[in-house]
Formats: sequence, C-alpha cells, structure tokens
Amino acid sequence: MIQLKSKEDIDGIRTSGHILAELFEHLGEEIAEGMSTWDVDKVCADFMKRNHSTGPCKGYMGYPSVSCVSVNDMVIHGIPSKREILRNGDIVSVDICLEKNGYVSDSTHTYEIGKVSPEVHQLNTVTEKCLYLGIEAASVPHARIHDISKAVFTHASKYGYGVVRDYTGHGVGFSIHEDPEVPNFVSLSMPNARLRPGLVIAIEPMINMGTYKVKTLPDGWGVKTIDGKPACHWEHTIAVTEDGIEIMTKL
Ligand code: MF3
Ligand code: CO
Repeated sequence: MIQLKSKEDIDGIRTSGHILAELFEHLGEEIAEGMSTWDVDKVCADFMKRNHSTGPCKGYMGYPSVSCVSVNDMVIHGIPSKREILRNGDIVSVDICLEKNGYVSDSTHTYEIGKVSPEVHQLNTVTEKCLYLGIEAASVPHARIHDISKAVFTHASKYGYGVVRDYTGHGVGFSIHEDPEVPNFVSLSMPNARLRPGLVIAIEPMINMGTYKVKTLPDGWGVKTIDGKPACHWEHTIAVTEDGIEIMTKL
C-alpha cells in the first residue's frame, strides 16, 4: 500500500534529506585511499551524531552499520569492514539512510578513489546520468513508475551495461522501504502507479559494466556481480508535489 505524504511530512523529509546531502558533501572531502570501509561508515555515523540524526540501516533486519559501502564488483549492501582498504582506482558506492524527527531519506553516491580507468569512470558518469534521466522522466506530467524505469534502462543499455533486476528503488519517508517498487527495467507484470502529489520515492539505478546478474555473499548482505566486473549505484529521494518534482537529497 502506498502511503502518500502530507505537506508537513514532506517538510520533514526535506530536512532529513538536507542533512544527508551535507553528509555526502562531507564524505566527498574525507574519503581517500588508505581508509577502510569501516572508517567510511565511522565518518557517516559521527556526522549523523553531530547533526542529531540517526542511521536506520543499523539494526534493519540485523544490518550492523549506518551505511552500505560497496567497492568495485560489490553492487550494493557491502558491510563496512576494518580489513577492506580503499585503493587508488577503486570505485566506492556509499548508500545511506538518514532519519531526522522520524523522517527517513535515502541516497547513494559512487566515489572514485584517485585515478580510475576511463571505462570505470564512464560507468560511473552513465549511472549518475541514468538517475537524473529517471528523475526527469518523473517530472513529466502524468508520469508513471514505468516511465522512470524505461528512462534508466534505455540509457544504460546504450552502453551495453547490465541493469540489475533483483533490487529496485522504493517508496521512502516513514521507513526505509515502502511501496511502490521502482524498478530500473520495465516489466509489464509489475505495478505501474501514476505519480501524484504526496508520493515520495527513492530512484536508484544499479548498473553493471558486464552482466546484470548478481549473487549474494555468504554474509547474507553483500551483493556482487557474478562476472567480477564493476558496478555503480546512484540514488536520490524525490517528492512529487503540486509544483512538480523536488529532489530531497540534493543541496
Ligand atoms: N539504503 C538501501 C536502499 O536503498 C537499504 C539498505 S538496507 C540495509 O534500499 F539494511 F542494508 F542497510
Ligand atoms: Co534505497
């Protein structure tokens, strides 16, 4: 069931999203070669604390950290670890949910560590572009969920990239995962809600350089590409208002 948000709710999600956007800016300055993925999570947790907010991923179905830190062929849900050290040429997606006054926002950035290969840099810029094309598709009057899906899928496919099918975007705001699902591919058998004022969703293309196929690690969380090729992930929380689309997690 889709839970539409009131104006007041959207104000709350905006405040949450604003802190999250600032956290990503801060991370962009901090993240560097030699840090562990656990250090990255610590930067997130400390920032949340300073800003009187929390990270609802921690404790969600037993997940241990406030962020998911996924390096190279890890697509999503990488558990931060003191043993995993960032190296020159790595790409690192940091996926964070932030809760402030009961309102949840959700966003992901993929950072490049030092100098990455041109192929990997292209994967990253194309994935970010997929996110903005998805948001643009949502901005068209009378748009439906599948319009977002199609925009993401079409752009990624132009480059021969694999679009992850096993995970999707989602409604957000009162909790981490709400209805509706927001897939990055079009499946006519899936629901296709019309976007209307009060709808708040996370759009999150997960794009692989090679095959779209992924596998879950024995830790029950980490999701990697099966061919070992790199993957990128970008995400914003957006709200549909009477005046159009507003990105909640961007400054
Ligand atoms: N932020 C993730 C998403 O975009 C949710 C991660 S759940 C966690 O859907 F428990 F792994 F953190
Ligand atoms: Co999400």
